[in-house]
This record gives sequence, structure tokens and C-alpha cells, in this order.
Amino acid sequence: MIKVNVKDVLATVSTETIKSYDKAGAEALDKLHNGTGAGNDFLGWVNLPSTTPASLIEDIENVAKSLRENCEVVVAIGIGGSYLGAKAVIEALSDSFAAYRQDGAPKVLFAGQNIGEDYLYELQEFLKDKKFGIIVISKSGTTTEPAIAFRVLKEQLESQLGKAEASKRIIAITDAKRGALRQLATEEGYKTFVIEDNVGGRFSVLTPVGLLPIAVAGFDIKALMEGAIEMEKATVAADDNNPAFLYATTRNALYNAGKKIEILVNYNPKLHYFGEWWKQLYGESEGKDKKGIFPAAVDNSTDLHSMGQWIQDGERTIFETVISVENQKYTLTIPSDEANLDGLNYIAGKRVDQVNKMAELGTRIAHVDGGVPNLLITIPALEERYLGQLIYFFEKGCGISGYILDVNPFNQPGVEDYKRNMFALLEKPGYEKETEAIKVRL
Ligand code: PA5
Repeated sequence: MIKVNVKDVLATVSTETIKSYDKAGAEALDKLHNGTGAGNDFLGWVNLPSTTPASLIEDIENVAKSLRENCEVVVAIGIGGSYLGAKAVIEALSDSFAAYRQDGAPKVLFAGQNIGEDYLYELQEFLKDKKFGIIVISKSGTTTEPAIAFRVLKEQLESQLGKAEASKRIIAITDAKRGALRQLATEEGYKTFVIEDNVGGRFSVLTPVGLLPIAVAGFDIKALMEGAIEMEKATVAADDNNPAFLYATTRNALYNAGKKIEILVNYNPKLHYFGEWWKQLYGESEGKDKKGIFPAAVDNSTDLHSMGQWIQDGERTIFETVISVENQKYTLTIPSDEANLDGLNYIAGKRVDQVNKMAELGTRIAHVDGGVPNLLITIPALEERYLGQLIYFFEKGCGISGYILDVNPFNQPGVEDYKRNMFALLEKPGYEKETEAIKVRL
């Protein structure tokens, strides 16, 4: 089971101060469990692990199997919550060089998470001589970035295979009834999965949104869900045995003590995208009403050589949450060298991970000494079950934390502003007044 340790924040906020958030934490938890808080129509994720029917997991696994058998490449198209969860889990579980290995295993690539012309062009070129399939994911079914990528890749697949065959290699994950993607999927006869109304994008990784791409990449989604169920059970009580409760109360105590930026730190490159997923989860959930901890992330020890100086010695408005992975999958020891010109013989025979762990411990001590409170989250290994625990832990922590902060953690009104300007600038029908107004400003 993953664990949370807050001892290295106590120089900044005392146990009593953290405890003073227990009442607000208990109220927040009650709102989540009883659906009495703001955004209560988006609480489908709370009991999702334990209520997901086995038949849905089976259906997802069967579709994944068919894609794996028929495709060399599967492109998952989506953005934000329709992208980051799958990307995070696949990266965390994959061989670091999976994309380059000619091992016959289907590769999962991503599109629609940007509007990079060269990215999409190069993807098209790469797919020219490949057997590929598409998973198109959009809850609203109207988001511009994935819609563009889907239009381009659908056309390519149809010209490679013909319309009828192409439609067998396209899976759509979207709203049950609404949106352009639902309509298209019905008309073209695509296999579809539903994103339930009561699950928001950034809380959707444990639905088909995340589970299908993860299963296509060859990972055990049952184990992922089992881990999430374990954490669902462990995060019910309003006390510090509930790791999500402890995390949420502690980070709010730190925020109100002037620590406005939280840096999620990993010492394993496979967790880079986990940091990206976490940033979206917390950023979009809490950054509103002119409030909210700014979520940042670093990959150590890489970033100790770039951001390390700032974290050690810059403005003291930050705290860190370190994800420490206890066990590695493989063993690699540092060889001895007779000449010892690099002076490394003092660590010869040690595992690379022992050195990494000392870098982690040494950095944590240095940062605490430098006035950066540290929360420590330990995860036994990068395996499906523990990642399931970690995902649900952060989701629950986010819900509790957002309610303690007194915002609606489940909406994202600020995301609409750029869209309105973009549509006005692109002269989208229906945006005539906005177009006129924005042109004056150019
Ligand atoms: O968390 C969210 O709600 C957003 O990040 C969405 O996931 C993102 O905007 C993509 O939306 P959609 O799935 O409707 O295309």
C-alpha cells in the first residue's frame, strides 16, 4: 500500500496546525460521500472503482485484444483529462525504450493533445506504411484539438483501408447521447464506450478513457482497478489513517502558511507524465476564485541540475511532495574499474538505485534545511496495483482539498476563455460579435 509521511513539514506547520484542518477535512469528505457540495453532479468517480462492472472491464479487454491483434500502432486521440491519465500510466509501466523496440508489440501513440502542424504531419508520415487503429476520446465530443487530429487520421485510415474496414479499427469514447463525436460514431457504426455524465475529464482515467489505451498497451487493467478499490476503501474515514485526508489537510495548512506552490517530485523518469496528470488534476480543480496552490513538477535527479538551485535557495513559497518508488523492476550494479580514473570505485558493487535513493534522501534533507517542507509518498513499485492506489489517492485528496479551499473542484470555467478568443479569431460561425470585438484589439 502507498504511504504518506508528513514529518518533514512540521518545522513549517505543526501537528496542531494540521489538525486544525480536520474539521474542514471531515466536512469536505462528507460532501464527497453524500453529494452535498458544489459540483455534486460530478462525483461519479468517488465510488467508481468498486462499482465498475466486471462486464465493462471484459468488454474493454476484448476490444484491446482485437486492436492488439490487428494493429501495429494504435493512436489515442484526446486532450486534457481525455489524454493525460492513459499517457501517465502507460509511461510509468512501459519499458523506457518500448517505442524503439522492434518487438512486434503494438505501440500506443497520442494525438490531438496539441495543434502542432509538424507533429500531425510527421505522425501521418509515420503511419503511411503501418496497420493502425484509432481510439478517439472526447467527453464533450466538440473539443477542437482532438477533432482536428481525428479528421486528419480518419481520412488517412479510410484512404488506406476503405471506409468500411476503417470503421472497424476506430473506437470512440464519448458522451452517451450528446456531441458531434457521438453522432459521427452512430452514423459510421464505430464501437463506442460511454463516459458517464457524472465523471469529469480529469477524474476519468479509471473509465474506458484511460483503461482502453492502457489495455491496448498490454497492461493489466484489472490489477489497476483492484489497487484503486483498495484505496477507495482506505480513504473513507475522516482521520489521519486516511492518506488522502492527511495529504489534503497538510497541503491546505502549508498553503495558508504561505506555501503557494507545490512541486511534485519524482526520482524515476517513468513518472514524468504522472506529474503532468497530477498537475492537470490539481490545477484545473483548485485554481479558481483567485485561489489555489500552483502545481508544478520536477523529474530528479535530472532537474536538480536545472531547477535545483531555485528550489534550494529561491523564494520560500514552495513545498514539495516527493513520490518515492521503493523497489525497482531490475537490478543493475555499478562495475569496479581498476584504473578508477572517474573515482567511482567507492560505489562499485552498489546498485544504481542505492545511489538514486541517496540522491533522494540527501536532496530531501537539503531542501528541508533550506526551508522547503517535504511530504513523502512511498509507493512499493511501479506496478498496476500501486498505480491504481496512487491515482485514486490523488483524486480523493484533490476532492477533499478543493472543498477545504472552498472552491468547486469539479468545474473549469477558466478553460473556456481561450476557446472563445480562438473561435473569434478563426471566425467560427456564431462568434461574429466576439470576432468584431477581438479584431479591434489586434
Ligand atoms: O478535465 C477536463 O474536464 C478537461 O481537461 C477535459 O478533459 C479536456 O478539456 C478535454 O475535453 P473533452 O474530453 O470533452 O474533449
